[in-house]
Parts: sequence; C-alpha cells; structure tokens
Amino acid sequence: MSLAATIPETARPDPAMAKRWLGRAGLLWLLVAIGGQMIFAVYVAASHGREWLTGQGVRGRPVEGLVPGDVLGNSLYALHMLFAVVIIVGGALQLWPALRRHRPAFHRWTGRTYMVAATILSLGGIGLILLRGTVGSTLMHVGTCLNGVVILICAGMAWMLARRRQFDAHRRWALRLFLAVSGVWFFRVMFMLWMLIFQAPVGFDPKTFTGPLPETLSFAQYLLPLAVLQLYFQAMDRGGSVLRLGVAGLLTVLALLTAGGIFGAAMGMWLPRL
Ligand code: HEM
Repeated sequence: MSLAATIPETARPDPAMAKRWLGRAGLLWLLVAIGGQMIFAVYVAASHGREWLTGQGVRGRPVEGLVPGDVLGNSLYALHMLFAVVIIVGGALQLWPALRRHRPAFHRWTGRTYMVAATILSLGGIGLILLRGTVGSTLMHVGTCLNGVVILICAGMAWMLARRRQFDAHRRWALRLFLAVSGVWFFRVMFMLWMLIFQAPVGFDPKTFTGPLPETLSFAQYLLPLAVLQLYFQAMDRGGSVLRLGVAGLLTVLALLTAGGIFGAAMGMWLPRL
C-alpha cells in the first residue's frame, strides 16, 4: 500500500496547493544555490583572476595552475578560470524568469555563450586531467571526466531542443545542464558540509586527498542533484499531494544543508584566499 493511500482522501491537501509549495521549495533551493555560486564566482575572479593577471601568487606562493614552460596546459588552465566565472554568472542570468520572458534575444545570446563556456570547460577540464593529472585517485578522475561528458550531453540536448522550438523539453535539459555544470561547486559544498559536521578528515587521507569520501563525491557531485531534479519533475508532472509535499520538504532540507555547505566552503576555502 502506498503512503498516500494510508491518508484519508478528505485529509489530503489539495494537489494544486501542494504543487505551489513544491515550486516555492524549488525556488528556495535555487536562490540559496545561486547566492553560493556568486560567492564562488567572486573567489575565482578575485583569487585566480588576480594571480593570472599579475603573475603573483597568494601570500608569496606560486600562481596556482602555472607550470613554467607548459604553454598548452597553462593556456587551458587560464581559459578554465575565465570561463568558470562566465558560466557561473551566466547560469544565474539564464535561470532568471523575467529576463527569459522580457528579453528573449538576451536570453538566446547568454544561452549560446553558456553552452560554448560549458563545452570549453568540459573539454578543457578533461584535457587538464589527461595532460597534467590532478589531485586524487584514478577513480576520482574518472568521476570528474564523466561529469564533463554529462555536461556535453546536457548542453547538446538543450541546444537541439531550443533549435526545434520544443521549449518545455529545452527548459528541462537546461536545468539538467545547470546542475551538471554546478558539479564542481557541489563537490566543494558537499565536502565542506561534511567537514563542518565531522570537524576532522573522516573518509579521506588529507595528505593525498584520496579515500571513499572524495571518490563518492566525484560521482555524487552531479548524479545526486540530477536524481533530485528528476524526482522534482516526477512530482510536478504526476505526483499527488503527498509526493509533492514530500519532495517540497526534501528540497527545504536540502536548501538548509546547501546553505551550511556554502557557509563552510566560503569560510574554509574561498574567503581566506581573497
Ligand atoms: C563547468 C563548470 C566548471 C567550473 C565552474 C570549474 C571551476 C574550476 C576552478 C575554480 C578551478 C580551480 C580550483 C579551485 O580554485 O577550486 C578548477 C580547476 C580544475 N578543473 Fe574545473 N570547473 C568546471 C568544470 C570542470 C570539468 C567538467 C572538469 C573535468 C572534466 C574540470 C577539471 C578541472 C581540473 C583538472 C582542474 C585543475 C585542478 C588542479 O589544480 O589540479 N573542471 N575548475
């Protein structure tokens, strides 16, 4: 017997009202996330941007990502930082309903820029892993490279559906693209939430940054948000009031956890490097 069937029909809330609460909870999570992404964008521009423009690392350290003599790797890294800022700010602009409705030409151009940025970041990121390697285990590299592949698939689908003028389906793939692009940000937010809770390096080796926690996060960073989005679509389309209110409650809890993770990442990772 389903959970909904255990509640008498007269006691069940109106599905239309439940749908409105689900929409509000989704918006709450999105506003929290966009706020946290703006802090990340400020950090990337102010910290990496300043380092690459001035050639001076933070507090006498070398410029992060600059390897003397590696012209290709350095160019990929610098491009990665530039387009990281473009894509984070672009994501917020793309999802702003008033801009979509009243400035469709602007939405189309920022959308094209967003998709070009997503392609450059994904291919460049995979290139950096293959050319230079990065911190963590091979399994983590596989998880991160797959994030790049998922971004490319979502970008391709969102682009194709917009060209075919199938705007409902386009909107859904654009939301998937936004979450997949946010994978690197989710990694930092989830990791710092974990650190806030445990206050110690639980689940990983702090010297090598390997272990079950970062390995799980390198897949969960995009698979978990995409699964929650799918649940949201399901509840919106076919859910009764119980499922809708359940998912609304889940999104509210996730908004609080996301806010906690953003606080941890801002205080522990981003603001100290400004
Ligand atoms: C699409 C959105 C992305 C954004 C906004 C982004 C942002 C960043 C930022 C800010 C850094 C510098 C490290 C830090 O300060 O935290 C970085 C480094 C890096 N990113 Fe990305 N990234 C994105 C996608 C990707 C993808 C899809 C991949 C791989 C497939 C990737 C691979 C890398 C690598 C290898 C580094 C270098 C890490 C190191 O120094 O060893 N990125 N990225």
